[in-house]
Amino acid sequence: MAKAQKSFACSACGSVYNRWQGKCDDCGEWNTIQEHASSVSGAPKGLSQKKGSAVNLVALSEPLAESPRLMSGIAELDRALGGGLVPGSAILVGGDPGIGKSTLLLQAMGALSLKGEDCIYISGEEATAQIQMRAKRLGLSGAPLKLGCETSLRNILTTLDEGAAPKAVVIDSIQTLFADHVESAPGTVSQVRVCAHELISFAKRRGTVVLIVGHVTKDGQIAGPRVLEHMVDTVLYFEGDRGHQFRILRAVKNRFGGTDEIGVFEMTGSGLNEVSNPSELFLADHSVREPGTCVFAGIEGSRPLLVEIQALVARSSAANPRRAVVGWDSGRLAMVLAVLDARAGLGLSGCDVYLNVAGGLKISEPAADLAVAAALMSSLSQTALPEETVVFGEISLSGDVRSVAQSDNRLKEATKLGFSRAIMPKNKKLGKTKLSVQTVSRINDLVAQFFPDAI
Ligand code: TYD
Ligand code: MG
Repeated sequence: MAKAQKSFACSACGSVYNRWQGKCDDCGEWNTIQEHASSVSGAPKGLSQKKGSAVNLVALSEPLAESPRLMSGIAELDRALGGGLVPGSAILVGGDPGIGKSTLLLQAMGALSLKGEDCIYISGEEATAQIQMRAKRLGLSGAPLKLGCETSLRNILTTLDEGAAPKAVVIDSIQTLFADHVESAPGTVSQVRVCAHELISFAKRRGTVVLIVGHVTKDGQIAGPRVLEHMVDTVLYFEGDRGHQFRILRAVKNRFGGTDEIGVFEMTGSGLNEVSNPSELFLADHSVREPGTCVFAGIEGSRPLLVEIQALVARSSAANPRRAVVGWDSGRLAMVLAVLDARAGLGLSGCDVYLNVAGGLKISEPAADLAVAAALMSSLSQTALPEETVVFGEISLSGDVRSVAQSDNRLKEATKLGFSRAIMPKNKKLGKTKLSVQTVSRINDLVAQFFPDAI
Protein backbone atom coordinates (compact mmCIF):
# COMPACT_ATOMS: atom_id res chain seq x y z
CA MET A 1 0.00 0.00 0.00
CA ALA A 2 1.27 3.46 -0.80
CA LYS A 3 2.52 5.39 2.19
CA ALA A 4 0.24 8.29 3.19
CA GLN A 5 2.10 11.43 2.28
CA LYS A 6 2.20 14.46 4.50
CA SER A 7 0.90 17.56 2.83
CA PHE A 8 0.80 21.21 3.87
CA ALA A 9 -1.60 23.94 2.81
CA CYS A 10 -1.78 27.69 3.22
CA SER A 11 -4.86 28.63 5.24
CA ALA A 12 -5.06 32.01 3.53
CA CYS A 13 -5.09 31.00 -0.12
CA GLY A 14 -5.18 27.20 -0.08
CA SER A 15 -1.89 26.60 -1.94
CA VAL A 16 -0.52 23.15 -1.30
CA TYR A 17 3.13 22.38 -0.43
CA ASN A 18 4.84 19.08 0.30
CA ARG A 19 6.97 20.51 3.08
CA TRP A 20 6.46 23.19 5.69
CA GLN A 21 7.75 26.67 5.05
CA GLY A 22 7.36 29.98 6.88
CA LYS A 23 5.98 32.07 4.03
CA CYS A 24 3.46 31.19 1.36
CA ASP A 25 4.98 31.76 -2.09
CA ASP A 26 1.57 32.38 -3.63
CA CYS A 27 -0.08 34.93 -1.38
CA GLY A 28 2.98 36.10 0.55
CA GLU A 29 1.42 35.54 4.00
CA TRP A 30 3.64 34.41 6.88
CA ASN A 31 2.87 31.53 9.26
CA THR A 32 -0.23 30.39 7.43
CA ILE A 33 1.10 27.03 6.22
CA GLN A 34 -0.16 24.11 8.24
CA GLU A 35 -0.23 20.35 7.94
CA HIS A 36 -3.27 19.31 6.01
CA ALA A 37 -5.00 15.95 6.01
CA SER A 38 -4.54 14.80 2.47
CA SER A 39 -7.29 12.47 1.39
CA VAL A 40 -5.38 11.37 -1.68
CA SER A 41 -2.71 8.91 -0.68
CA GLY A 42 -0.94 7.06 -3.44
CA ALA A 43 -2.86 8.61 -6.31
CA PRO A 44 -3.60 6.21 -9.20
CA LYS A 45 -1.14 6.34 -12.09
CA GLY A 46 -3.89 6.66 -14.70
CA LEU A 47 -7.58 5.96 -15.25
CA SER A 48 -8.33 2.24 -15.22
CA GLN A 49 -10.12 0.39 -18.01
CA LYS A 50 -13.49 0.92 -16.34
CA LYS A 51 -15.72 3.10 -18.48
CA GLY A 52 -17.53 6.18 -17.20
CA SER A 53 -20.90 7.39 -18.45
CA ALA A 54 -21.05 9.74 -21.40
CA VAL A 55 -21.65 13.43 -20.77
CA ASN A 56 -24.75 14.99 -22.31
CA LEU A 57 -23.38 17.63 -24.68
CA VAL A 58 -25.55 20.62 -25.56
CA ALA A 59 -25.23 23.01 -28.52
CA LEU A 60 -24.25 26.55 -27.55
CA SER A 61 -27.08 27.90 -29.71
CA GLU A 62 -29.74 25.81 -27.98
CA PRO A 63 -32.43 28.03 -26.40
CA LEU A 64 -31.94 28.25 -22.67
CA ALA A 65 -34.53 28.08 -19.95
CA GLU A 66 -33.40 31.05 -17.90
CA SER A 67 -35.03 31.55 -14.55
CA PRO A 68 -35.35 35.16 -13.50
CA ARG A 69 -32.96 36.65 -10.98
CA LEU A 70 -34.13 37.09 -7.43
CA MET A 71 -34.09 40.70 -6.32
CA SER A 72 -33.17 40.85 -2.65
CA GLY A 73 -34.94 44.16 -2.18
CA ILE A 74 -31.69 45.76 -1.00
CA ALA A 75 -30.74 47.78 -4.08
CA GLU A 76 -27.06 48.19 -3.17
CA LEU A 77 -26.65 44.41 -2.73
CA ASP A 78 -28.44 43.71 -6.01
CA ARG A 79 -26.23 46.26 -7.75
CA ALA A 80 -23.01 44.70 -6.42
CA LEU A 81 -24.28 41.32 -7.64
CA GLY A 82 -24.79 42.72 -11.14
CA GLY A 83 -28.59 42.81 -10.92
CA GLY A 84 -29.88 40.41 -8.28
CA LEU A 85 -29.25 36.85 -7.13
CA VAL A 86 -28.96 34.15 -9.80
CA PRO A 87 -30.86 30.96 -8.88
CA GLY A 88 -28.52 28.01 -8.30
CA SER A 89 -25.48 30.19 -7.70
CA ALA A 90 -23.05 30.12 -4.81
CA ILE A 91 -22.04 33.50 -3.41
CA LEU A 92 -19.19 34.00 -0.98
CA VAL A 93 -19.41 37.04 1.29
CA GLY A 94 -16.01 37.70 2.83
CA GLY A 95 -14.89 40.34 5.29
CA ASP A 96 -13.24 41.07 8.61
CA PRO A 97 -15.04 39.82 11.71
CA GLY A 98 -17.52 42.39 13.02
CA ILE A 99 -17.77 44.34 9.77
CA GLY A 100 -21.47 43.51 9.33
CA LYS A 101 -21.72 40.39 7.16
CA SER A 102 -24.32 38.70 9.34
CA THR A 103 -26.32 41.92 9.59
CA LEU A 104 -26.33 42.43 5.82
CA LEU A 105 -27.38 38.86 5.06
CA LEU A 106 -30.02 38.80 7.77
CA GLN A 107 -31.48 42.01 6.30
CA ALA A 108 -31.34 40.56 2.78
CA MET A 109 -32.99 37.29 3.80
CA GLY A 110 -35.58 39.17 5.87
CA ALA A 111 -36.46 41.35 2.89
CA LEU A 112 -36.62 38.36 0.52
CA SER A 113 -38.80 36.33 2.86
CA LEU A 114 -41.16 39.30 3.26
CA LYS A 115 -41.61 39.16 -0.53
CA GLY A 116 -42.87 35.60 -0.09
CA GLU A 117 -39.69 33.71 -1.00
CA ASP A 118 -38.73 30.67 1.07
CA CYS A 119 -35.44 31.54 2.82
CA ILE A 120 -33.33 29.83 5.47
CA TYR A 121 -30.62 31.36 7.64
CA ILE A 122 -28.27 28.87 9.26
CA SER A 123 -25.83 30.13 11.84
CA GLY A 124 -22.98 28.21 13.38
CA GLU A 125 -21.92 31.21 15.41
CA GLU A 126 -24.97 32.56 17.16
CA ALA A 127 -27.92 31.07 19.03
CA THR A 128 -31.42 31.52 17.55
CA ALA A 129 -32.33 33.86 20.42
CA GLN A 130 -29.40 36.11 19.52
CA ILE A 131 -30.44 36.23 15.87
CA GLN A 132 -34.04 36.89 16.86
CA MET A 133 -32.89 39.79 19.03
CA ARG A 134 -30.88 41.22 16.17
CA ALA A 135 -33.82 40.80 13.77
CA LYS A 136 -35.98 42.71 16.25
CA ARG A 137 -33.46 45.56 16.24
CA LEU A 138 -33.45 45.53 12.44
CA GLY A 139 -37.26 45.71 12.39
CA LEU A 140 -37.56 42.28 10.85
CA SER A 141 -39.25 40.29 13.62
CA GLY A 142 -42.33 39.83 11.44
CA ALA A 143 -40.39 38.32 8.52
CA PRO A 144 -41.24 34.66 7.77
CA LEU A 145 -37.56 33.67 7.71
CA LYS A 146 -36.54 30.24 9.00
CA LEU A 147 -33.60 30.15 11.40
CA GLY A 148 -31.35 27.26 12.29
CA CYS A 149 -28.31 26.85 14.52
CA GLU A 150 -26.12 24.03 13.33
CA THR A 151 -22.52 23.29 12.48
CA SER A 152 -22.81 19.74 11.15
CA LEU A 153 -22.76 19.74 7.36
CA ARG A 154 -24.62 16.41 7.27
CA ASN A 155 -27.51 17.78 9.35
CA ILE A 156 -27.65 20.99 7.33
CA LEU A 157 -27.82 19.17 3.99
CA THR A 158 -30.46 16.76 5.33
CA THR A 159 -32.56 19.74 6.47
CA LEU A 160 -32.17 21.55 3.17
CA ASP A 161 -33.00 18.47 1.12
CA GLU A 162 -36.32 17.94 2.94
CA GLY A 163 -39.36 19.09 1.00
CA ALA A 164 -39.31 21.81 -1.64
CA ALA A 165 -35.99 23.52 -2.27
CA PRO A 166 -35.70 26.90 -0.55
CA LYS A 167 -35.02 29.94 -2.76
CA ALA A 168 -32.05 31.15 -0.74
CA VAL A 169 -29.92 29.84 2.12
CA VAL A 170 -27.34 31.69 4.21
CA ILE A 171 -24.52 29.73 5.85
CA ASP A 172 -22.92 31.86 8.56
CA SER A 173 -20.02 31.05 8.54
CA ILE A 174 -18.19 28.41 6.49
CA GLN A 175 -15.39 28.33 9.07
CA THR A 176 -17.71 26.92 11.75
CA LEU A 177 -19.03 24.05 9.60
CA PHE A 178 -17.91 20.51 10.20
CA ALA A 179 -18.06 17.56 7.80
CA ASP A 180 -17.82 14.37 9.86
CA HIS A 181 -16.08 12.36 7.13
CA VAL A 182 -13.06 14.66 7.12
CA GLU A 183 -10.58 14.18 9.91
CA SER A 184 -9.60 17.71 10.71
CA ALA A 185 -10.89 20.53 12.87
CA PRO A 186 -13.56 22.99 11.64
CA GLY A 187 -12.01 25.96 9.86
CA THR A 188 -9.06 24.08 8.37
CA VAL A 189 -8.44 24.18 4.64
CA SER A 190 -9.71 20.62 4.09
CA GLN A 191 -12.92 21.15 6.10
CA VAL A 192 -13.68 24.50 4.49
CA ARG A 193 -13.15 23.07 1.00
CA VAL A 194 -15.24 19.95 1.53
CA CYS A 195 -18.11 21.84 3.18
CA ALA A 196 -18.13 24.49 0.45
CA HIS A 197 -18.03 21.83 -2.27
CA GLU A 198 -21.07 20.04 -0.81
CA LEU A 199 -23.00 23.31 -0.44
CA ILE A 200 -22.19 24.40 -3.98
CA SER A 201 -23.32 21.01 -5.35
CA PHE A 202 -26.55 21.45 -3.40
CA ALA A 203 -27.04 24.90 -4.95
CA LYS A 204 -26.58 23.56 -8.50
CA ARG A 205 -28.72 20.48 -7.87
CA ARG A 206 -31.72 22.25 -6.36
CA GLY A 207 -31.47 25.73 -7.89
CA THR A 208 -31.12 27.40 -4.51
CA VAL A 209 -28.99 30.51 -4.01
CA VAL A 210 -26.39 29.65 -1.37
CA LEU A 211 -24.75 32.60 0.37
CA ILE A 212 -21.65 31.57 2.28
CA VAL A 213 -20.08 33.84 4.89
CA GLY A 214 -16.29 33.66 5.19
CA HIS A 215 -14.26 35.57 7.76
CA VAL A 216 -11.03 37.10 6.60
CA THR A 217 -8.30 36.11 9.02
CA LYS A 218 -4.84 37.50 9.34
CA ASP A 219 -3.25 34.97 11.68
CA GLY A 220 -3.95 31.88 9.60
CA GLN A 221 -5.58 29.96 12.47
CA ILE A 222 -8.58 29.29 10.28
CA ALA A 223 -8.78 29.17 6.51
CA GLY A 224 -9.85 32.43 4.91
CA PRO A 225 -12.27 32.99 2.02
CA ARG A 226 -9.49 33.03 -0.58
CA VAL A 227 -9.40 29.25 -0.28
CA LEU A 228 -12.90 29.23 -1.77
CA GLU A 229 -12.73 32.04 -4.32
CA HIS A 230 -12.23 29.73 -7.29
CA MET A 231 -15.05 27.36 -6.27
CA VAL A 232 -17.96 29.80 -5.99
CA ASP A 233 -19.71 31.81 -8.72
CA THR A 234 -19.53 35.19 -7.06
CA VAL A 235 -17.20 36.65 -4.47
CA LEU A 236 -18.25 39.75 -2.58
CA TYR A 237 -16.06 41.48 -0.02
CA PHE A 238 -17.59 43.63 2.64
CA GLU A 239 -15.07 46.25 3.65
CA GLY A 240 -14.89 49.36 5.72
CA ASP A 241 -13.07 51.02 8.49
CA ARG A 242 -14.27 50.16 12.00
CA GLY A 243 -13.92 53.83 12.96
CA HIS A 244 -16.27 54.93 10.19
CA GLN A 245 -19.85 53.96 9.63
CA PHE A 246 -19.47 53.42 5.86
CA ARG A 247 -19.33 49.90 4.51
CA ILE A 248 -18.58 48.98 0.93
CA LEU A 249 -19.68 45.76 -0.71
CA ARG A 250 -17.35 45.03 -3.59
CA ALA A 251 -17.63 42.25 -6.16
CA VAL A 252 -14.20 40.77 -6.89
CA LYS A 253 -15.45 37.85 -8.97
CA ASN A 254 -18.77 37.48 -10.69
CA ARG A 255 -19.71 34.83 -13.22
CA PHE A 256 -23.02 36.63 -13.84
CA GLY A 257 -22.03 40.28 -14.03
CA GLY A 258 -19.27 42.83 -13.83
CA THR A 259 -16.78 42.97 -11.01
CA ASP A 260 -16.39 46.68 -10.77
CA GLU A 261 -19.70 47.47 -9.11
CA ILE A 262 -19.87 48.48 -5.48
CA GLY A 263 -22.69 48.82 -2.99
CA VAL A 264 -22.42 51.45 -0.29
CA PHE A 265 -24.00 51.13 3.13
CA GLU A 266 -24.00 53.01 6.37
CA MET A 267 -24.00 51.08 9.68
CA THR A 268 -26.51 52.62 12.05
CA GLY A 269 -28.08 51.64 15.36
CA SER A 270 -30.83 49.88 13.45
CA GLY A 271 -28.76 48.00 10.92
CA LEU A 272 -27.28 48.81 7.53
CA ASN A 273 -28.84 51.63 5.54
CA GLU A 274 -28.35 51.89 1.80
CA VAL A 275 -26.50 54.95 0.57
CA SER A 276 -27.72 55.79 -2.89
CA ASN A 277 -25.63 58.95 -3.27
CA PRO A 278 -22.23 58.09 -1.79
CA SER A 279 -20.46 61.28 -2.92
CA GLU A 280 -22.42 63.32 -0.40
CA LEU A 281 -21.25 60.97 2.31
CA PHE A 282 -17.55 60.97 1.46
CA LEU A 283 -17.22 64.70 0.98
CA ALA A 284 -16.57 67.02 3.85
CA ASP A 285 -17.93 70.56 3.44
CA HIS A 286 -16.46 71.50 0.08
CA SER A 287 -17.21 75.20 0.03
CA VAL A 288 -14.34 76.11 2.38
CA ARG A 289 -11.01 74.88 1.03
CA GLU A 290 -7.98 74.29 3.21
CA PRO A 291 -4.39 73.90 2.01
CA GLY A 292 -3.61 70.21 1.58
CA THR A 293 -7.07 69.06 0.53
CA CYS A 294 -8.39 68.26 -2.89
CA VAL A 295 -11.61 66.71 -4.19
CA PHE A 296 -11.05 63.78 -6.50
CA ALA A 297 -13.75 62.92 -9.03
CA GLY A 298 -13.48 59.12 -9.11
CA ILE A 299 -15.45 56.26 -10.62
CA GLU A 300 -16.36 53.08 -8.78
CA GLY A 301 -17.84 50.60 -11.24
CA SER A 302 -20.40 52.49 -13.24
CA ARG A 303 -20.89 55.07 -10.55
CA PRO A 304 -19.04 58.36 -10.11
CA LEU A 305 -17.86 59.05 -6.59
CA LEU A 306 -16.37 62.27 -5.27
CA VAL A 307 -13.95 61.94 -2.36
CA GLU A 308 -11.70 64.28 -0.49
CA ILE A 309 -7.98 63.60 -0.50
CA GLN A 310 -5.95 65.09 2.34
CA ALA A 311 -2.18 65.50 2.40
CA LEU A 312 0.25 66.78 4.96
CA VAL A 313 3.80 67.56 3.89
CA ALA A 314 6.31 68.64 6.52
CA ARG A 315 10.07 69.13 6.40
CA SER A 316 11.83 66.30 8.19
CA SER A 317 15.26 66.06 9.74
CA ALA A 318 15.22 62.24 9.76
CA ALA A 319 17.43 60.33 7.35
CA ASN A 320 14.40 58.36 6.19
CA PRO A 321 11.38 60.66 6.17
CA ARG A 322 8.06 59.09 7.10
CA ARG A 323 5.52 58.14 4.46
CA ALA A 324 2.08 57.09 5.68
CA VAL A 325 -0.94 56.39 3.47
CA VAL A 326 -4.52 55.53 4.38
CA GLY A 327 -6.91 54.53 1.61
CA TRP A 328 -4.44 54.60 -1.29
CA ASP A 329 -1.57 52.48 -2.52
CA SER A 330 1.77 53.38 -0.92
CA GLY A 331 3.69 52.28 -4.03
CA ARG A 332 1.62 54.65 -6.13
CA LEU A 333 2.33 57.49 -3.68
CA ALA A 334 6.06 56.78 -3.91
CA MET A 335 5.75 57.02 -7.69
CA VAL A 336 3.88 60.34 -7.65
CA LEU A 337 6.44 61.76 -5.17
CA ALA A 338 9.31 60.65 -7.38
CA VAL A 339 7.70 62.23 -10.47
CA LEU A 340 7.06 65.49 -8.60
CA ASP A 341 10.69 65.52 -7.47
CA ALA A 342 12.25 64.61 -10.79
CA ARG A 343 9.96 66.43 -13.26
CA ALA A 344 8.75 69.44 -11.30
CA GLY A 345 11.73 69.86 -8.94
CA LEU A 346 9.58 69.99 -5.83
CA GLY A 347 12.16 68.60 -3.40
CA LEU A 348 9.77 66.28 -1.51
CA SER A 349 12.45 63.71 -0.72
CA GLY A 350 13.35 65.51 2.51
CA CYS A 351 9.75 65.73 3.72
CA ASP A 352 7.47 63.60 5.84
CA VAL A 353 4.38 62.85 3.77
CA TYR A 354 1.00 61.76 5.09
CA LEU A 355 -1.90 61.02 2.77
CA ASN A 356 -5.46 60.20 3.74
CA VAL A 357 -8.61 59.44 1.77
CA ALA A 358 -11.51 60.88 3.79
CA GLY A 359 -14.33 58.68 5.00
CA GLY A 360 -12.40 55.41 5.17
CA LEU A 361 -12.72 54.71 1.44
CA LYS A 362 -10.03 52.79 -0.44
CA ILE A 363 -9.18 54.10 -3.91
CA SER A 364 -7.37 52.03 -6.51
CA GLU A 365 -7.86 54.13 -9.64
CA PRO A 366 -4.75 55.65 -11.30
CA ALA A 367 -7.00 58.64 -12.10
CA ALA A 368 -6.42 59.78 -8.52
CA ASP A 369 -2.74 60.60 -9.28
CA LEU A 370 -3.39 64.21 -10.25
CA ALA A 371 -5.63 64.82 -7.24
CA VAL A 372 -2.95 63.37 -4.94
CA ALA A 373 -0.29 65.53 -6.59
CA ALA A 374 -2.50 68.61 -6.18
CA ALA A 375 -3.11 67.86 -2.48
CA LEU A 376 0.64 67.36 -1.90
CA MET A 377 1.57 70.60 -3.68
CA SER A 378 -1.18 72.46 -1.89
CA SER A 379 0.13 71.33 1.49
CA LEU A 380 3.74 72.02 0.55
CA SER A 381 3.02 75.56 -0.65
CA GLN A 382 0.30 76.23 1.96
CA THR A 383 -1.94 77.38 -0.90
CA ALA A 384 -5.50 76.13 -1.17
CA LEU A 385 -6.90 75.11 -4.53
CA PRO A 386 -9.63 77.41 -5.91
CA GLU A 387 -13.02 76.80 -4.27
CA GLU A 388 -15.45 74.24 -5.67
CA THR A 389 -12.84 72.43 -7.76
CA VAL A 390 -12.58 68.74 -8.63
CA VAL A 391 -9.40 67.13 -9.94
CA PHE A 392 -8.64 63.90 -11.83
CA GLY A 393 -6.02 62.53 -14.21
CA GLU A 394 -3.30 59.91 -14.43
CA ILE A 395 0.37 60.89 -14.12
CA SER A 396 2.98 59.03 -16.14
CA LEU A 397 6.61 58.61 -15.11
CA SER A 398 7.63 61.21 -17.69
CA GLY A 399 5.52 63.82 -15.92
CA ASP A 400 2.74 63.86 -18.52
CA VAL A 401 -0.86 63.99 -17.38
CA ARG A 402 -2.95 61.46 -19.25
CA SER A 403 -6.66 61.39 -19.87
CA VAL A 404 -8.77 58.83 -18.05
CA ALA A 405 -11.99 56.97 -18.80
CA GLN A 406 -15.47 58.34 -18.15
CA SER A 407 -14.48 62.01 -17.87
CA ASP A 408 -18.02 63.10 -18.74
CA ASN A 409 -19.52 61.06 -15.92
CA ARG A 410 -17.06 62.54 -13.45
CA LEU A 411 -17.89 66.09 -14.52
CA LYS A 412 -21.63 65.38 -14.42
CA GLU A 413 -21.41 64.18 -10.82
CA ALA A 414 -19.34 67.23 -9.86
CA THR A 415 -21.94 69.54 -11.44
CA LYS A 416 -24.70 67.73 -9.58
CA LEU A 417 -22.95 68.31 -6.27
CA GLY A 418 -22.45 72.03 -6.84
CA PHE A 419 -18.84 72.18 -8.04
CA SER A 420 -17.94 74.84 -10.57
CA ARG A 421 -14.39 74.02 -11.75
CA ALA A 422 -12.44 70.99 -12.88
CA ILE A 423 -8.72 70.45 -13.33
CA MET A 424 -8.18 67.58 -15.72
CA PRO A 425 -6.07 66.29 -18.61
CA LYS A 426 -6.77 67.35 -22.20
CA ASN A 427 -9.59 65.30 -23.68
CA LYS A 428 -10.73 65.76 -27.27
CA LYS A 429 -13.87 63.71 -26.83
CA LEU A 430 -15.21 65.72 -23.91
CA GLY A 431 -18.90 66.55 -24.20
CA LYS A 432 -20.57 69.75 -23.08
CA THR A 433 -20.22 70.68 -19.42
CA LYS A 434 -21.30 73.54 -17.21
CA LEU A 435 -18.03 73.43 -15.26
CA SER A 436 -15.15 75.69 -16.14
CA VAL A 437 -12.49 73.21 -17.20
CA GLN A 438 -8.77 73.90 -16.82
CA THR A 439 -6.63 71.36 -18.62
CA VAL A 440 -3.09 70.38 -17.68
CA SER A 441 -0.93 68.31 -20.01
CA ARG A 442 2.18 68.13 -17.83
CA ILE A 443 2.67 68.09 -14.10
CA ASN A 444 4.62 71.37 -14.42
CA ASP A 445 1.44 73.05 -15.74
CA LEU A 446 -0.27 72.24 -12.46
CA VAL A 447 2.58 73.80 -10.50
CA ALA A 448 2.76 76.89 -12.73
CA GLN A 449 -1.00 77.49 -12.78
CA PHE A 450 -1.92 76.83 -9.18
CA PHE A 451 1.12 76.48 -6.92
CA PRO A 452 3.93 78.74 -8.13
CA ASP A 453 5.17 78.93 -4.50
CA ALA A 454 5.71 75.16 -4.27
CA ILE A 455 9.15 75.20 -5.90
P1 TYD B 1 -22.04 41.56 12.38
O1 TYD B 1 -23.06 41.54 11.31
O2 TYD B 1 -22.27 40.66 13.55
O3 TYD B 1 -20.58 41.33 11.80
P2 TYD B 1 -19.93 40.03 11.14
O4 TYD B 1 -21.01 39.05 10.88
O5 TYD B 1 -19.27 40.54 9.91
O6 TYD B 1 -18.91 39.53 12.10
O7 TYD B 1 -21.96 43.09 12.84
C1 TYD B 1 -21.30 43.41 13.96
C2 TYD B 1 -21.19 44.88 14.22
O8 TYD B 1 -22.21 45.68 13.67
C3 TYD B 1 -21.25 45.05 15.69
O9 TYD B 1 -20.00 45.49 16.11
C4 TYD B 1 -22.32 46.02 15.96
C5 TYD B 1 -22.69 46.58 14.65
N1 TYD B 1 -24.13 46.75 14.51
C6 TYD B 1 -24.67 48.03 14.53
O10 TYD B 1 -23.95 49.02 14.67
N2 TYD B 1 -26.01 48.18 14.36
C7 TYD B 1 -26.85 47.12 14.20
O11 TYD B 1 -28.06 47.31 14.05
C8 TYD B 1 -26.28 45.81 14.19
C9 TYD B 1 -27.16 44.61 14.04
C10 TYD B 1 -24.92 45.67 14.34
MG1 MG C 1 -21.29 37.26 11.93
